[in-house]
Amino acid sequence: MSLKEEIERRRTFAIVSHPDAGKTTLTEKLLLFGGAIHVAGAVKSNKIKKTATSDFMEIERQRGISVATSVMGFEYDGVKINILDTPGHQDFAEDTFRTLTAVDSVIVVVDAAKGVEAQTEKLMKVCRMRKTPVIVFVNKVDREGKDPFDLLDEIEKQLEIHVHPLSWPVGMGQRLQGVYNILDRKMYYFSGDDKTKAEEPQEFKDINAPEVDKKLGERNAEKLREDLDLITGVYPTFDNQEYLDAKVAPIFFGSALYNFGVKELLESFIRIAPSPQPSQTIERQVSPYEDKFSGFVFKIHANMDPNHRDRIAFVKICSGTFHRNTNYTHVQLGRQLKFSSPTAFMAQKTSVVEEAYAGDIIGLHDTGNFKIGDTLTEGENMHFKGLPSFSPEMFRYIENSDPMKAKQLAKGIDQLMDEGVAQLFTLTMNGRKIIGTVGALQFEVIEYRLLHEYGAQCRYEPASLYKACWVRPNDKAEWEDFKKRKFKSIAKDKYDRDVYLAESAYELQMAQEKFKGLEFFFTSEF
Ligand code: G4P
Repeated sequence: MSLKEEIERRRTFAIVSHPDAGKTTLTEKLLLFGGAIHVAGAVKSNKIKKTATSDFMEIERQRGISVATSVMGFEYDGVKINILDTPGHQDFAEDTFRTLTAVDSVIVVVDAAKGVEAQTEKLMKVCRMRKTPVIVFVNKVDREGKDPFDLLDEIEKQLEIHVHPLSWPVGMGQRLQGVYNILDRKMYYFSGDDKTKAEEPQEFKDINAPEVDKKLGERNAEKLREDLDLITGVYPTFDNQEYLDAKVAPIFFGSALYNFGVKELLESFIRIAPSPQPSQTIERQVSPYEDKFSGFVFKIHANMDPNHRDRIAFVKICSGTFHRNTNYTHVQLGRQLKFSSPTAFMAQKTSVVEEAYAGDIIGLHDTGNFKIGDTLTEGENMHFKGLPSFSPEMFRYIENSDPMKAKQLAKGIDQLMDEGVAQLFTLTMNGRKIIGTVGALQFEVIEYRLLHEYGAQCRYEPASLYKACWVRPNDKAEWEDFKKRKFKSIAKDKYDRDVYLAESAYELQMAQEKFKGLEFFFTSEF
């Protein structure tokens, strides 16, 4: 197979949802179709237990298992599918955001009864920012849910994207008869007793034919016709390019638990979803089809077991072919590195690979060479963009509680931040350090790891802050004035960029109104 064909047949994507909407169940069913697993429950048992919200050691223990499930690769119908898992935990992790920077598309799972929930909205913001194509799977139609039209409205409003239903439920919950595939004009019947097999789909070439009434019952057939009329009125034709341009999200309905609508989702997905896309570096755009290998680190997984201090750097291949035991340039370090045991993720197992292609994710054993965002190339000096820091939601001052171990603490904080565990802001005024995270759990993780890996003891003090804002000073004089007036709230991030730590939404709004020559951003890349 040519390099072009190898790359074109790849689909690298993430499934995201609010906890409990059914991400794990859907992932599992997709893996079953791909033959990647043979029994249901295989993924589930790896899932971090929802009750363990404050028991982070348990989470870490399970996280160990989850390295293998961080990326799940399998083949389906000649297509190489790479599903990137995002942490399935109540607490948001920085990892979740960064994983989205390594995918070409996203499937969003929404619970039919609950509709769009908070975490989905947040994740969708990242997709919108990156213009990532999104498909929405409305799950749990085997249960009573919201009216499908209301759901479409809700998705459109809350996810801020136009929608286009490609399948449509006939009834829901107890009255669920099946799902009608709008593009294929086929009706997939739901048979509640058999969890895996539904009746063969029936083609409704003419939705007005009397056989449709016979099959669905008069009332349901009439309702389906009305719904379809409305749908074709509002959403005339589906344009795949609009989906690829992230302007329209195709919507599918189904039940992951009953494996219903999942195969149709998968088959539509491989047909319409994008193959690996070009990536942007500071210097130039990189096409996946370039012969020369390039890639970047988007995630670092540290082993918390003190006997095995190894780390795995997850690299997204952006162009060409990666080969084992070959020298590559680590651009940020300016050094050549060679990897003897790069790992590929196939069917939930990790194995050493000889080569991997653009679109694939590989795991590299790391002894501390890698930071998030680092670039590997065949010698070219370029730096991948698109791995912004997002404003944290929670902030605490971090203080040293053992004066003898100040050095260890500084080193530990530095390395943990390189790994992307959280973000560090240093106040310009007095050098005090503030840790910002997207989930409360990370504070515990940092404290634990500082103690066990660096022998340093830290203590937190509350910092009541609203957001970290990166600033674009269009008016230099105004910026100097702003820094003087707000000197207590000005800090530097890890990369020495200026950050305004706003105490409240109101304070930020006032700053925006008063200082028109400054622009404030919740992400570090703008
Ligand atoms: P998550 O990864 O998004 O957090 O969700 P997960 O797949 O774990 O699903 C959350 C709960 O919803 C699970 O029930 C799961 O069985 C159920 N579920 C998922 N898809 C469907 C569906 O299509 N229909 C129905 N009715 N339920 C669905 P649980 O009781 O929390 O877990 P378990 O004890 O069943 O494993």
